[in-house]
Amino acid sequence: MASFATLLSLLTIALLSFSCSSQFILPIQKDPLTNLFYTSLGIGTPQHNFNIVIDLGGPILWYDCNKSYNSSTYNPLPCESKLCSGEGGCTSCNGHFKPGCTNNTCGATIINSLSHHIFSGDTGNDVLFISNSKVSGLISGCTDSDGFSDDFPLINLPKTSKGILGLARTELSLPKQLSLTSSKLPNKFAICLPSSSKGSLFFGGIPQKSSFSKFQLTTIPLIINPFSTAPIFTEGDASYEYFIDVKSIKVNGEVLNFKSSLLSIDNKGNGGTKFSTLNNFTVLHSSIFKPLVRDFVKKASDKKIKKVASVAPFEACFDLSTIGRTKTGLDVPTIDLVLEGGVEWKIYGGNSMVLVNKKVACLGFVDGGKEPMTTIVIGGHQLEDNLLEFDLVSSKLGFSSSLLLHNARCSNSDQANFSLIPME
Ligand SMILES: *[C@@H]1O[C@H](CO)[C@@H](O)[C@H](O)[C@H]1NC(C)=O
Ligand SMILES: *[C@@H]1O[C@H](CO)[C@@H](O)[C@H](O)[C@H]1NC(C)=O
Ligand SMILES: *[C@@H]1O[C@H](CO)[C@@H](O)[C@H](O)[C@H]1NC(C)=O
Ligand SMILES: *[C@@H]1O[C@H](CO)[C@@H](O)[C@H](O)[C@H]1NC(C)=O
Ligand SMILES: *[C@@H]1O[C@H](CO)[C@@H](O)[C@H](O)[C@H]1NC(C)=O
Repeated sequence: MASFATLLSLLTIALLSFSCSSQFILPIQKDPLTNLFYTSLGIGTPQHNFNIVIDLGGPILWYDCNKSYNSSTYNPLPCESKLCSGEGGCTSCNGHFKPGCTNNTCGATIINSLSHHIFSGDTGNDVLFISNSKVSGLISGCTDSDGFSDDFPLINLPKTSKGILGLARTELSLPKQLSLTSSKLPNKFAICLPSSSKGSLFFGGIPQKSSFSKFQLTTIPLIINPFSTAPIFTEGDASYEYFIDVKSIKVNGEVLNFKSSLLSIDNKGNGGTKFSTLNNFTVLHSSIFKPLVRDFVKKASDKKIKKVASVAPFEACFDLSTIGRTKTGLDVPTIDLVLEGGVEWKIYGGNSMVLVNKKVACLGFVDGGKEPMTTIVIGGHQLEDNLLEFDLVSSKLGFSSSLLLHNARCSNSDQANFSLIPME
């Protein structure tokens, strides 16, 4: 018969593992050279620590399983598995068994939209180390970069990054998989991209005991684009990217004049507004970009802000010494995204302006040309120091607007220490 002490220690272990399993937080850092955001994850046995770029619009987690990578806990996903979409075919390999070289394996389509190519890879499950927790059986993709010239799958990612963590609405996204491993963890995640230092990615949503739980979020529906926006897909698939319904845009409170049908999604899936953290800066259809720049420059000049020569890729650039400061960044005209029900997502100087050198600040939006598939692609810079919660159960997005308004940032010091705070 088990002694009381044994029972007690078993109970403690159970409680400990429970408290660990509800604590999935990843730190987020910004790479200064590419302006992309990345996190650090441990994968496999022995544990390999990788920096992985975060992509709100990516379908899966994938990493580089090159020649020197192996893991004794890796299990390839068989081609017959119902989790295998079939888009990546069925792969086999003549070498020694290792991740990236297995037989009858569900092919993964490895997407790095910064390289404008799709790569072949394998799907399999392995253990992941997320903050202080170890979770087994999580499915991801891997590709052997040695199989391509010049590390092609990793091209344009930060030098130290070895893969992409896709957070889109798919069956194999990490938030979804984690929600299936723990009944306590809903299919939600929250993300706070830092402008400096460290931000956070919270699986399961904003933890109740974090300093972030005090911010009031405005909630809007996440829209489903019924047509895939992916480079490879099965006929009839909806887009797995996150769209929101922007109804109009204002500059300093005045509505921008452009053809509003550009903001809706047409019967081929073109148009609309989505998020992509693989874009540094928000990309706008030319027919919106041009009036935005025109009105912004005019309203800036009303504020006695002096325009200077453009610095690519930006168009509207200003003499920094003529711009005032506010707690939300440079004192420039606000840009508001007007959403359903008149809800406004206000973009202040901290998110609209980019310092290109010590003397010049530019409006950090870029021209997407006359025929982009999606009219507005909200990029990373515009999301920094904003707290966003993607709720895939109710298909809603909660957003805080600039945390600077509340004298806070994504890199709040207690946040950097957050993974040390025990939760229940
Ligand atoms: C992001 O910004 C950096 C620095 O301005 C630039 O070199 C890079 O090409 C940009 N990347 C993308 C995808 O726009
Ligand atoms: C394989 O990846 C590891 C870890 O990411 C890296 O250190 C190593 O240089 C790569 N090896 C080759 C041959 O590319
Ligand atoms: C990889 O590890 C597995 C399991 O530990 C082992 O059987 C296999 O031979 C290793 N593969 C290579 C290429 O070293
Ligand atoms: C895959 O199957 C072939 C044919 O049976 C075999 O020669 C090869 O060693 C296998 N590959 C691996 C990685 O087990
Ligand atoms: C983390 O917490 C420790 C102890 O509470 C504190 O001394 C330290 O400054 C904190 N670190 C950061 C980055 O805030």
